[in-house]
Amino acid sequence: MPGVQQVEHPVRQHHAATFLEPARTPRHRGAQREEFWVVECHALASLDPRLPVVNPASFPRRVMNLRPALFLLALTALASAAFASREKPVIGLSLDTLKEERWQRDRDTFIAEAQRLGATVIVQSANSDDTRQVRDVESLISRKVDVLVIVPHNGSAMTRAVKSANDAKIPVIAYDRLILNAQIDYYLTFDNVKVGEAQAGYIVPRLPKDRPARIVRIYGAPTDNNAKLFKQGQDNILGPLIKAGKIQVVHEDWALDWKPENAKKIMNAAVTKAGRNLDAVIVSNDGTAGGAIQALQEDGLAGKVLVTGQDADLAACQRILRGTQAMTVYKPLTKLSHLAARIAVEVAKGGKPAATSTLHNGAKDVPSIFEAVIPVDKDNLLSTVVADGFHKAADLK
Ligand code: BGC
Repeated sequence: MPGVQQVEHPVRQHHAATFLEPARTPRHRGAQREEFWVVECHALASLDPRLPVVNPASFPRRVMNLRPALFLLALTALASAAFASREKPVIGLSLDTLKEERWQRDRDTFIAEAQRLGATVIVQSANSDDTRQVRDVESLISRKVDVLVIVPHNGSAMTRAVKSANDAKIPVIAYDRLILNAQIDYYLTFDNVKVGEAQAGYIVPRLPKDRPARIVRIYGAPTDNNAKLFKQGQDNILGPLIKAGKIQVVHEDWALDWKPENAKKIMNAAVTKAGRNLDAVIVSNDGTAGGAIQALQEDGLAGKVLVTGQDADLAACQRILRGTQAMTVYKPLTKLSHLAARIAVEVAKGGKPAATSTLHNGAKDVPSIFEAVIPVDKDNLLSTVVADGFHKAADLK
């Protein structure tokens, strides 16, 4: 990709090998290997508009007489370099992880749009490690990026890193996941409560009416504020029915770090505890739905129990067509990533783009934008995900 230098290094991702039901296209076959490649993009030195250090005392003796003139020249160069920095901003993008399919698409489409707008992007991915992500953000700050865009692994652990950005006067945009108790400038995301409502709302009318329905609930990572919002949305729909005794939650748990293998363990525990007589499993995303479905498959229950998801991952869309997953929630990622790139560039240039909403993060009302989400099942897969070009029809088979 022009404007970025990619440095690849392997990181062990044991879960990727055994628990992800691999999507059947060459692009995703790599997920079956033990090694998972994290790609970091670093700005090329020549494109990095960081200011040069000029020391006039170091000029050679024969140009000594010219020193004042040269110094002035250097100052002019410095001023125009600073100006160039605003015209061609450098964006630091700090990602929690690249292990789910969606984040790779977020990264690629964000970089493409930022470059189209004349910006350079430095990308770091923390492999779901808080200490590493704080270090990533601090390194981006020390490289004097003009703006930071952060997808936090842990909304609370990032508070400290944002404080460092505030001290360095670098604006911060929280992308998809909120950063708590911190002075951030924007929060750009999807309507996460609506995601949860879409998941539970899809299941409820399909549950048996003649007896209390028996469901399992698998939430996301407890460190991710979004996971709580998805649960909140599900609660909005399920709460009254649970209270009325129409739905019985036979088992529930949080899947640490959104790992499919953790979801599989939760599903195994649910069957052990509550038996095979289950009507639905409300799972918060497609990756963990894959883990839960693997457990159901081992028990001969896949396709017999309704399972939800989120992200419209290719493997999930294939499962929907095969009938082992009932639905997913499609989030048009390019809409969000392009919006974020535009806002990042504007903010880097000193602008204050308008937000459509605010959300309190414990420290302030953060100017926010919530993009809409679309529930998808086998009936509208083609008219949404495929029609949008998110996946090719041929890849779904
Ligand atoms: C995102 C989901 C994603 C999950 C796991 C959430 O914060 O909103 O789209 O599936 O994290 O990465």
